[in-house]
Formats: sequence, structure tokens, C-alpha cells
Amino acid sequence: MRLSPGSLAVPILTVWLLAPWTRGDDPKPPVKMTAQEDHKRMMELLGIKELRRGADGNPKSERAANLDESKANPYLDLPDPLTLKNGKKVTTAEAWTNERRPEIVEDFDREVYGRVPKDTPKVKWEVTSTEKQSVGEVPVVTKKLVGRVDNSTYPLVTVDIQLTLTTPAGAKGPVPVMMEFGFNFGGKGPAPKAGAPPSWQQQVLAKGWGYAIIVPTSVQADNGAGLTSGIIGLCNKGQPRKPDDWGALRAWAWGASRALDYFKTDKDVDAKRVGIEGLSRYGKAAIVTMAYDERFAIGFIGSSGAGGAKLHRRDYGEKVENVASSGEYHWMAGNYLKYAGPLTAKDLPVDAHELVALCAPRPVFISVGSLQVEGGWVDARGMFMAGAEAGRVYELLGKKGLGTSEFPKQETALTDGDVAFRQHAGGHTTGPNWPTFLTFAERYFK
Ligand code: GCU
Repeated sequence: MRLSPGSLAVPILTVWLLAPWTRGDDPKPPVKMTAQEDHKRMMELLGIKELRRGADGNPKSERAANLDESKANPYLDLPDPLTLKNGKKVTTAEAWTNERRPEIVEDFDREVYGRVPKDTPKVKWEVTSTEKQSVGEVPVVTKKLVGRVDNSTYPLVTVDIQLTLTTPAGAKGPVPVMMEFGFNFGGKGPAPKAGAPPSWQQQVLAKGWGYAIIVPTSVQADNGAGLTSGIIGLCNKGQPRKPDDWGALRAWAWGASRALDYFKTDKDVDAKRVGIEGLSRYGKAAIVTMAYDERFAIGFIGSSGAGGAKLHRRDYGEKVENVASSGEYHWMAGNYLKYAGPLTAKDLPVDAHELVALCAPRPVFISVGSLQVEGGWVDARGMFMAGAEAGRVYELLGKKGLGTSEFPKQETALTDGDVAFRQHAGGHTTGPNWPTFLTFAERYFK
């Protein structure tokens, strides 16, 4: 058979339309940069020549972090969560919800944590195993799950969210669940030693509730080099961030929200009573989750420090300058760098008390360890102050704040209101605060 040019046109056009490689526009591989290179790139993008150096964690260093309370508050003026940008006072719950809250969210989005893209890809949850086990004496069912993120727009980045869910086998219906941002992937927690106090998992089960552990690094790597992969890199098709793009904290929080989407479909979980817990960088992620996703019922915020519940305007322990450095900037929006460069913490349009306020009216528990054991890096008082200041928003919404502005003695539980605070006697852990937190949570989960 002889082919005329016309008879070839249709098949060639079809191949051209369906197969992008024939058009020479196959996706470019993700940009590869070290964290230092990307950090520098962001500085250039922002026109920043130099950043101030952060404080040193080592108390013997010449640049040791300030731990002198009398020098901790160079900038006493906190932005008022109850004054609109136009100067008008917010005096009703409606004005808070419809006017002031969105202003605060916009400021956090643009300057602090970055924006989540309008259309993020769908996640398909798959249960990869279901196992009957027992945790302590309690028979449970543990499901391992993978959340496969649709990467059809950019197949060169794959994101598989890892999650485990453990619920009491004997439950009569859906149960409340506490979800942790886990440093480790595992359903059971460490094997309890004889005579050891019950693990947090056992304590949660003793209430008849379930627990879940999400692996944040399966959503987004915990470093700047990873920003062109993970969910952030997938949404940017492997290209580096713009100054107001989301950082890892919001990416981790996004992952937690997708886990909550799954819980809504699981008959073992009461998705209206799901709480979020995390420690340290994951304590920051936990409060960001609570602040942004109003479906989360309660937050247990462990030693979240700078970038978490601690006031940025405090000079005590870790500083904005540390968080803006190449080791930590990936948690935040690129724009955050400005506040360690030409600007200072006092120029931030928002501060951590407003992050706590975004959790209102839902209950939030701010946890920290002892100054002697954990050290001052996380700034217990700076987190307490943010909690106390957020109280005005809670009260406007008919709830109760911390009930005092006086920093309490260690191991004093301030749990009468909807904002709670306790400094335990241990180190960098939420461990010793679990019993107090669970008693607090029971008021809401009953
Ligand atoms: C560093 C960092 C903190 C962070 C902590 C952690 O100490 O400066 O901001 O919370 O690491 O996550 O372990």
C-alpha cells in the first residue's frame, strides 16, 4: 500500500498530542540544590545581602542565647489580635471570624509559614495491612496506611504518606483519636519495661480512644535541599520556591489534614474528635495544623519554641535569626528571612499569640519541660505569654483563656480554661504531660 501524506497526518497528530516527549516538553527533573544554595537563592530573590547570625545553643559560647529574663523583651508591643488593620476594634465573634481571623491568616501565610497552593493533588489512601495486636493488656487493631498523592501533573516526584492507626479492638463504635507527628514509624511504641509507667499510647487506649502516627518526612523532607521534592516540590513541578510558598511546617500540617480526610471514611474513628500532638519541630507543626485546619478538635503542643507557640518578639533562647538560617528556614516561608535581615522580629505583622488565637475556640494545650532539664532554648515563658495573650480571643468567642498572666511554678497545671499550659519536670519531651493533657482532653472527648 502507498501512503499519501494526508493519510499520515491523523496518526502523527495523535502521537504528538498524547505523547509529550514528541513535543520536546517532557518535564524537567527537579532542581537539585543544597540547603545552603537554596537559602542563598532565596536571599537574592528577596534582595537581602546579609542575615544576622542566630544565638548559640551552647551556654558557654560568646553568642550564647539570652537566658536573662530582664533582657528578654526588647519589643513589648504585640500586634493586637482584636484590632483590624483599619484600626477598628473587634468586639463580636462575627467580626473575629469574618474579618480579623482572615487578616491574621493572610499575614501568617505570606510572611511566616507560606501559602498552600489553591489546588493540591488528591490523596488516595490504601490500607496496606490490618493486624490484631495487644498494646499492654489492651487488644487493638492496627492499620498501616499509605496515602498515595496523585502526581500525574509531575510524575518525577512521588509522595507516599505513611500513617498508622491503632484503635481498641473492643470499641463499640467510632472512637476519638490522638494523632502524633512521629519521629519514628511504628504502631506500638517502645516495648514497655517492667514497672515502667504506661506509654502515651497505653494511656490513650486506657481512655478507650485510639491513636495514630503520621510520618511527616514522608510528606516533606526536613531540609532545604528537599524543597524541590516532597509535596512542595510536586506542586512546584520540581522548581524552587517563591518567597510566599509554603514551608515544611505547612506541608506537614497538610499531610495531617489528609490523614483526617481518611479518618472521616474509617468507621472506627470519630473524625469530629481527632487531636494532634507533636514535639519540638513537630510541636510547631502541631500548632500550625490546629491553627489552619478547624476540623482538628484539640492540640497538644510540645516544646514548640521558635516558629511555634513562642513569641517571635522575645529575645530568650532561640531567635528568629536561628529559624531563618539555612538549617531551619525550610520550615517557614522564604519571606520569613526578611525578619533576620533588614527587618527584625518587631516588624512581623503577626506573632505567636495570634497563632494560638487561630486555634480558638478549640482547646489547645501548651506543653514544655523544665528549665533545668530541657534548657531555655524553647522559651517556656514566651510560649506561656502567647497562650495568655490569646485568651482575649477565646473569651470573645465565649470560651476561657489561661486565667492568669503570671508564669506558674513548674508542674502547675493551668487547665481550667480552653487554653492550657503546663511545664513538667522532665526534658525535651511531652511524656510527663500526657496524663494532664488526657484529663484536659476528656472534658471535650466525653
Ligand atoms: C532545634 C531547633 C528547634 C527545634 C528543635 C527540634 O533545636 O532550633 O527550633 O524545635 O531543633 O525540632 O528538635
